[in-house]
Amino acid sequence: MAIQLVRPARTLQGSLTVPGDKSISHRYAMLAGLAEGTSRLSNFSTGADPHSSLGCVQALGATVEHKGSGPAATVEVTGVAGAFRQPAAALDCGNSGSTMRMLAGLIAPHPHTFTLVGDHSLTVRPMERIRKPLSQMGAKIDLVDGHAPVTIFGGRLRAIDFTTPIPSAQVKTAVLFAGLQAEGTTSLSEAIRTRDHSEHALKAFGATLTRSGEKLSISGGQKLKAIDATVPGDISSAAFFLCAALLFPDANLVLDSLGMNPTRAALLDVIAALGGRIKVLTVEEHHGELIGAIQVNPGGVSASGPFTISGALTAQVIDELPVLAAIAPFTANGLIIRDAQELRVKESDRIALVAKNLRAMGAELTELPDGLEIPGGQSLHGAQVDSGSDHRIAMAVSIAALRATGDTEIHGAEAASISFPEFFTSLDALAQR
Ligand code: S3P
Repeated sequence: MAIQLVRPARTLQGSLTVPGDKSISHRYAMLAGLAEGTSRLSNFSTGADPHSSLGCVQALGATVEHKGSGPAATVEVTGVAGAFRQPAAALDCGNSGSTMRMLAGLIAPHPHTFTLVGDHSLTVRPMERIRKPLSQMGAKIDLVDGHAPVTIFGGRLRAIDFTTPIPSAQVKTAVLFAGLQAEGTTSLSEAIRTRDHSEHALKAFGATLTRSGEKLSISGGQKLKAIDATVPGDISSAAFFLCAALLFPDANLVLDSLGMNPTRAALLDVIAALGGRIKVLTVEEHHGELIGAIQVNPGGVSASGPFTISGALTAQVIDELPVLAAIAPFTANGLIIRDAQELRVKESDRIALVAKNLRAMGAELTELPDGLEIPGGQSLHGAQVDSGSDHRIAMAVSIAALRATGDTEIHGAEAASISFPEFFTSLDALAQR
């Protein structure tokens, strides 16, 4: 297990291009794998998770080629033109819940038997949430106590009218991907609207999808055509540096080619509420996704009490909650996170691990079943902390370490490579010591 030393910083300054968005990379990899023709994907995520998706579509008959290197690198995926083949072995989803859940919907309409497996963390994550709608559509799916391995006995599926019981873009996507290939028109409603990358990606690949109020509809039997696309920078990776910029009065950070899809960009409102000043420098649209450049400086906080993240906002910043919690002790008024029970079934129990690591650094906080209450105005000290093999915990704690007194040792720091292999290099480039 790798130990990473993070030293305190004086400030954070510079510009950064973060790697391609993990969520969008998964969707492009999967839909390109199903489509007819060769898709050329630039700025594809460098994280291990979307590469699990590429590995799976390859095992299902698509061809995946990596061309060029550095910023000019592309991933070329030649799809199976609507007919996945029976894979020779189990499909390895690694650490990626997105791969396992979304791929289940994509492959269930194909007349083969598939087994989806993953690492230890993935094997304890809830999978009943995708089994339920896909079984209603007619797929036979076996789980072991609600968990992976997931065995799918695929075949013709029928459309359903489904309401997602928990806010989950992965469940929504599994249903839409299955509905695309089912008989009839599948409808889906979400009580809390989640990230809409699948909707944009399906349209980009040529599918028709309609929305009427809260209801999304997709008719079955649609064919997809390959695309050329550039994946926007991952705002959830940028979040670590956006949050770090709030820690130093003279911080100045410019992020370019950043994904700013409105269903992901609520983070920018939270940063502003916690005292950040965000200037949007440019913005353009590509395949329905907004891409832009922003500048962040710390401003001032006017509110008197702690800022509360709850309800729909919690779902919109679900992946950024660990780093928001990590900077909360240094904010003027603190942070309350509620309605975040989903955080307990991510790559780790993120509520428990954030609490444990911040306490090890001397923070006072209250752990709640669905969140955290973290008072502001605290000082932290360096400590030995543990990522719990969770990428976002490794990176979140590193940000808190920038403002601690003394050095922090992050055990299991290699987990960062699940979504952001360049994280520690970028941190060293931007943190002034
Ligand atoms: C994701 C959706 C979220 C998020 C995950 C990626 C996606 O999960 O936490 O990192 O790409 O759709 P849920 O669907 O479980 O909320």
